[in-house]
Amino acid sequence: MRTSLIYRNATVYELLMRALYGRYYSARYRAVEELVPEGASVVDLCCGPATLYTRYLRHKSVDYTGLDRNDGFVAKIGKAGGRGEVWNLHADIPLPEADYLVMQASLYHFLPEPGPVIDRMLAAARKQVIIAEPVRNVASSQNRVLAALGQRFTAAGDGVQAHRFTEETLDEFFRAYAPRVVRQSLIAGGREKLYVLSA
Ligand SMILES: C[S@@+](CC[C@H](N)C(=O)[O-])C[C@H]1O[C@@H](n2cnc3c(N)ncnc32)[C@H](O)[C@@H]1O
Repeated sequence: MRTSLIYRNATVYELLMRALYGRYYSARYRAVEELVPEGASVVDLCCGPATLYTRYLRHKSVDYTGLDRNDGFVAKIGKAGGRGEVWNLHADIPLPEADYLVMQASLYHFLPEPGPVIDRMLAAARKQVIIAEPVRNVASSQNRVLAALGQRFTAAGDGVQAHRFTEETLDEFFRAYAPRVVRQSLIAGGREKLYVLSA
């Protein structure tokens, strides 16, 4: 299974994300930026083109590492001042340690068993794990054409992603982590839900 077009080209990816999130595009990154203090270390799982770093965290002098299976995305992170590593996050190996382990818009790639990747994030985090996940998206639209496009465009290379979270299923998943949840809130105009877990 080939990686979809959106994941092969950073410019195409950003254009589609901007189209999808509209005026809430920046808000989804700012919600995470606000949680990360100056000088902190951050490991960003499924970092894509590392927009979180290049536009929102770099000015805070964070020590940034982006992990993604897409070598095209990862290659550019070093030039931008961070570290990038090609990493298949389905692999059951410990993650690099950092103050904050972050994952944006990618937990659905680990369905139907997203627990192991969250557990590896918790094991590697010194302070917090930050997850921002779409809970209203085109891939689960009742419009079949839109849904098919959304699923095709976000295939990461291991098959079409037919399943996404809704707010209810995401809340249900994180109930198992209730003692660690320090914050949960809708962000980006209700398109994503933010969960912050203490390490
Ligand atoms: C929707 S993008 C999110 C990118 C970025 N976090 C953002 O919010 O802009 C999902 C990313 O997850 C990556 N990805 C999907 N499955 C992966 C896996 N098993 N291991 C590593 N990266 C993966 C894709 O290559 C893609 O860059």
